[in-house]
Amino acid sequence: MKALVLAGGTGSRLRPITHTAAKQLVPVANKPVLFYGIESIVAAGITEIGVVVGETAAEIRTTLGDGSRFGAQITYLPQERPLGLAHAVLIARDWLGEDDFVMYLGDNFIVGGITSLVEEFRAERPDARIVLTRVKEPSLFGVAELGPDGQVVTLEEKPRHPRSDLALVGIYLFSPAIHDAVAALEPSPRGEWEITDALQKLIDSGRTVRSTLITGYWKDTGDVPDMLEVNRSVLEGIESSVEGSVDEASELVGRVRIAPGARIERSRIVGPAVIGADCLIRDSYIGPSTSVADRCLISGSAVEFSVVLQDSRIEDAGRIEGSLIGRSVQVVGSERRAHAHRLVLGDHSEVLINT
Ligand code: G1P
Repeated sequence: MKALVLAGGTGSRLRPITHTAAKQLVPVANKPVLFYGIESIVAAGITEIGVVVGETAAEIRTTLGDGSRFGAQITYLPQERPLGLAHAVLIARDWLGEDDFVMYLGDNFIVGGITSLVEEFRAERPDARIVLTRVKEPSLFGVAELGPDGQVVTLEEKPRHPRSDLALVGIYLFSPAIHDAVAALEPSPRGEWEITDALQKLIDSGRTVRSTLITGYWKDTGDVPDMLEVNRSVLEGIESSVEGSVDEASELVGRVRIAPGARIERSRIVGPAVIGADCLIRDSYIGPSTSVADRCLISGSAVEFSVVLQDSRIEDAGRIEGSLIGRSVQVVGSERRAHAHRLVLGDHSEVLINT
């Protein structure tokens, strides 16, 4: 079995974070979302991985390399334009050959991995197996309608009037039967070759399409509270490790991970929390459910239930909570009691000011 990982497309939904980076590289507990996907594929015993890349190809290639760090062999499959998930299968046709494959959307996060899904597929070997989860806004997803005995009856891509709250999760298991269905597709009204339509074709031609319902799912649908929540839930599972330095005047409470080169001075860190490499945390409090990425400076501030991306500086900023702070951001308190806030914010930034 092979894996086809989709890492093209641009991330309009998690702005401003994805203005400057591929959406698949958005970090959860200081690790890109895409890494969790690749690790779960390898954990399921699949090591031949094709990664479909688009506009952000250079960034994805630099980050993943040849796959050896994951114990896998990665082949890059360039997609010139983001023409849909089924189009990705089409361009990967030769590389996939006659193998079964799992297709994994690189911006999806599945708690608990995919091993049991892959095992289930191997044991039953239907023509396809899809994965579903209940969501609040089904019209943002592909939506499945199940028959009385649980078989998939219809699939619709981002329907205005969804027939259920069962969304297609971005992981699909296919036998080579999918290739004929993909080859027979026409582009959808949004101009894309939809995998949802290919699956419907399989169903209509009497092929078996099974489904598995899961909980514990997240995708970058642009919702910051959601991202903080997935970060929180991943941090719940971390182990303590201190590779950086912690001075005598500092205290670590609970499970805290401090990466190499990080320095903690006169600060208190209450886990679960992760502090990235080469950070300096000084005279500060870092509270539970917080991830601070590499090379950040946090000084004279309190940060809790937040995600701070690399190279950012938070100084004398008071207390920050429930926040997502991007790369190379500066949040700095001012001594002067000015009656005005001074802000330099990128497009789509959001600031909640206490007045
Ligand atoms: C794609 C699929 C959709 C699925 C979703 C899951 O949507 O077309 O059916 O529910 O992934 O991530 P996209 O994210 O490309 O809009």
